[in-house]
Amino acid sequence: TQVGLIFGGNSSEYEVSITSAGNIYKAIDKEKFDVHPIWITNDGYVTSEADSFKVLEDPGYTVEKTDKAANLANLIELTDRPELDVLFPIVHGNLGEDGVLQGLFRLIDKPFVGVDVLAAAVTMDKEFTKILAQRAGVPVAKWVSIKRYEYEDAKNQKLDYDWVSGQLGTSNLFVKPSNQGSSVGITHVVDDSNYAEALAEAFKYDDKVLVEEGIVGTEVETAVLGNDHPVVSGVGRIINADNSWYSYENKYSDESTTTLQIPAQIPAETAEKVRENALKIYQITECSGMARVDSMLRESDGAVIFNELNALPGFTNISMYPKLFEEAGISYPDLITRLIKLAEE
Ligand code: DAL
Ligand code: MG
Repeated sequence: TQVGLIFGGNSSEYEVSITSAGNIYKAIDKEKFDVHPIWITNDGYVTSEADSFKVLEDPGYTVEKTDKAANLANLIELTDRPELDVLFPIVHGNLGEDGVLQGLFRLIDKPFVGVDVLAAAVTMDKEFTKILAQRAGVPVAKWVSIKRYEYEDAKNQKLDYDWVSGQLGTSNLFVKPSNQGSSVGITHVVDDSNYAEALAEAFKYDDKVLVEEGIVGTEVETAVLGNDHPVVSGVGRIINADNSWYSYENKYSDESTTTLQIPAQIPAETAEKVRENALKIYQITECSGMARVDSMLRESDGAVIFNELNALPGFTNISMYPKLFEEAGISYPDLITRLIKLAEE
């Protein structure tokens, strides 16, 4: 089977994608699959296969910029090669995980790994995903969304100001772009001092920002795999030192003091709830292939509060998705094989 592995991209999660793709390339069963890497640079340049192999070996590798006008044509040409049986996009975030790339694959009529256009677009948007989670009966943190045209009013409010009928009334808030990944653009706000700054930061990344009640507790994640009959892994827990949260730094930097506890040391019935909720959200958002579902366990009452769903979860060597399936007895290479088979179903 000939697999086109698409990675990089014009997204703030560019580096994460390079690492994910490098790991997939290393782990993929080379007896079964021939990999054709397709690297999109952070500036959106679509490079050659030879250059794509080089950046997989050396993430610091760079290329001469090409004619930008040719990039879409190049991307179509590289993905639409008749010899490619299946495409494996591992472009996290904007233009990769939000249905845009998936739309291209639909246009050229190639099977691809992971969610289809609708699920990608919906789950990239944290607000729409929360609305659907509520519809499925899964609890979510209280939130309000602010559109760019409401920004001027919103930034002059005090945090304790009842600007949404007292909905939030808390001084433990997360301000986040609705469409982003890897915690880019998110600020934890505990008083008025950095609220305006937090809004400005989040609006750098999206035209819609969520102000969300912070849940005091611990983050747990679970992995889902499959199309019509998905399987759900066990539960992993994020342990952040010093009461910090799972920020970009804590996710990826070498100095991070975050550890993954797999399986999560939590009561069995709580783990069951986490898995049950994850499946409900996977199904109501019409996911296929894979997703990682992130939730909080609220300290005060043990409730499982859904946070977000990642349709193209990280595949770095410290990432939760492949680790949860390893724990379930599915090795990294077997997981990739299964994902490709699911794409071809
Ligand atoms: N958005 C990153 C890659 C994740 O959720 O793993
Ligand atoms: Mg998350």
